[in-house]
Amino acid sequence: MQNVIDTLRSQSASHVEKLKEWLRIPSVSTDSNQKGEVRRAGEFVRDELADAGFEVRIDETPGHPVVLAKWHGAEGAPTLLVYGHYDVQPPEPLELWRHGAFEPTIEGDDLIARGSTDDKGQALALVLGIGGVLRETGSLPINVTFLIEGEEEIGSPNLAPYIDAHLDELKADIALISDCTQFGPRMPAITVGLKGLVYLQVDLVGPNRDLHSGSFGGAVENPANALATMLSKLIDSDGRVLIPGFYDKVRDLTDAERVEISKLPFSEADFAAELEVPMVHGEQGYNTLERKWARPTLDINGLLSGWTGEGAKTVLPSKAMAKFSMRLVADQHPDEIAELAKKFLAEICPPTCKMTISIDHGAEPVLVDATNPWLAVAARAIEKGFEKTPVMIREGGSIPVVSVLKKALGIDTILLGLGLPDDNAHSPNEKFHLPDYQRGIETAAWLLAEMAEG
Ligand code: BES
Ligand code: ZN
Repeated sequence: MQNVIDTLRSQSASHVEKLKEWLRIPSVSTDSNQKGEVRRAGEFVRDELADAGFEVRIDETPGHPVVLAKWHGAEGAPTLLVYGHYDVQPPEPLELWRHGAFEPTIEGDDLIARGSTDDKGQALALVLGIGGVLRETGSLPINVTFLIEGEEEIGSPNLAPYIDAHLDELKADIALISDCTQFGPRMPAITVGLKGLVYLQVDLVGPNRDLHSGSFGGAVENPANALATMLSKLIDSDGRVLIPGFYDKVRDLTDAERVEISKLPFSEADFAAELEVPMVHGEQGYNTLERKWARPTLDINGLLSGWTGEGAKTVLPSKAMAKFSMRLVADQHPDEIAELAKKFLAEICPPTCKMTISIDHGAEPVLVDATNPWLAVAARAIEKGFEKTPVMIREGGSIPVVSVLKKALGIDTILLGLGLPDDNAHSPNEKFHLPDYQRGIETAAWLLAEMAEG
């Protein structure tokens, strides 16, 4: 294996070029105008896997296609299912980028571009590390399947049916996903918890047209006022969600879990300083890491109503809209929480407005069994690839496929984050730290050898 690692190291410049090429494809899955570009990003990774020696195909779905690649020549050896996503978040606001979002640029040790950390850089590290072993040795010590989709950022709406329809082909002992972060620089981690998600849009309609706020204000309901009042009833100023029943199924942190979290090197003051906020904020009785990892939350993600252009316009708007989402923890269920939220919104909506609620996407929360023996195997590979012992962490983000794999295939996932907490995922100037790209490539190669040993 050391020979392969040496080769992978000697190829690091070409690995960076490959990633840049992938990042130039604007595969924004929410944008229907970019459908062709999303597919092209899928074809890029298909070609890369084919070139390494995998049997590959592109499978159509009602949305963006799935890339499936297999090398199943290690009879009797375990099977690893590697997941990644080739779609990215929209790049807006464009004016805040230091370079074009799809013009990958190196600054120091970082590669800046939309998708660099989420998830093209992390996914390509696994493709190149595992693909490199196949390319250099002509075989793999274990069986590997790659499942790379183009709809993660829109909640993977077509992936569960796809997996259900391909259960035999996707059968595996364990899954591997690199689509999250390390605990910090030079602090690799295995993530054992992810949050779930429910995303809602509320539209309120009042009068049939915008009105003069002097002539009509106070005499007709203002949907913007009504929506603001409603939203203020969803969460209190300490971050406690006020929807009845919201906390009923929340699994509390155990004392032992809280002790483990408290052992991690984390400074609330540094956290606040880096974000330039005067102080941290959140649910009383919990510290920042506990809030981020193990407590459910509610955030307004967007608000729209009335006049938001230059200067003042004295208008009573006819409509108001809010998008908000709730991040869930075990054992909350997105469908149940969505129902509770809808019921509560109906109760607090004034009779003076018409309301419609639409539910966008959801994901189930994840808690990986930390005693799963494959996690210890992965920890050995990380020690080799990063020359550091990984810590166990949770994350606040969501990856819908993880709970789907558990339910459909009965397997846990090794969540091996290669990113860093300040990578600006979903934000302007998204970056990926190139030394971690190389360490990720090497860790993926080591994982094959470690898994073969068991
Ligand atoms: N890579 C993220 C998930 C993530 C982010 C994990 C941060 C851990 C830390 C992923 O691509 C993502 O953004 N997922 C969405 C899922 C949603 C659209 C269902 C998310 O979390 O908002
Ligand atoms: Zn991602």
